[in-house]
Amino acid sequence: MAMEQTLSMIKPDGVKRGLIGEVIGRFEKQGLKIKAMKMLHLTLNQARAFYAVHKERPFYDSLTGFMSSGPIVALILEGENAIQVNRDLMGATDYRQAAPGTIRADFAKDIEANIVHGSDAPETARTEIAFFFNALEKV
Ligand code: CMP
Repeated sequence: MAMEQTLSMIKPDGVKRGLIGEVIGRFEKQGLKIKAMKMLHLTLNQARAFYAVHKERPFYDSLTGFMSSGPIVALILEGENAIQVNRDLMGATDYRQAAPGTIRADFAKDIEANIVHGSDAPETARTEIAFFFNALEKV
């Protein structure tokens, strides 16, 4: 197993519903270390840039509207196999298919408003981390 970093976001629904502490608590209990963290409100253009990989998908406009609808929390998580560990904590994108005890199974009510985002591979993690954080913002 490799030491990895991954990018996590607590989405506008997670922030609005008061789940920041709950989600971060799960990261820490699982042994993921927080290497950077900030709250920000993405503009529509920033959300469109972050999710550019999905620009041909039918849900792109709705997703980017939702992601720019309120504040989010962005974090860098670090640990052995952090990308998969974080994905296991989140559960499947569709909360109806998420394993019991995962963040999305426990809290999500919608495939789009699914509380959290996490990088899906090392290359994506590098790009997504660079999107949010510069060198001075990481410990
Ligand atoms: P996320 O892991 O952030 O990656 C893309 C996001 O698109 C996903 O979580 C959901 O918020 C959103 N989304 C909306 N509809 C769908 C869909 N049908 N399939 C996948 N993702 C969707």
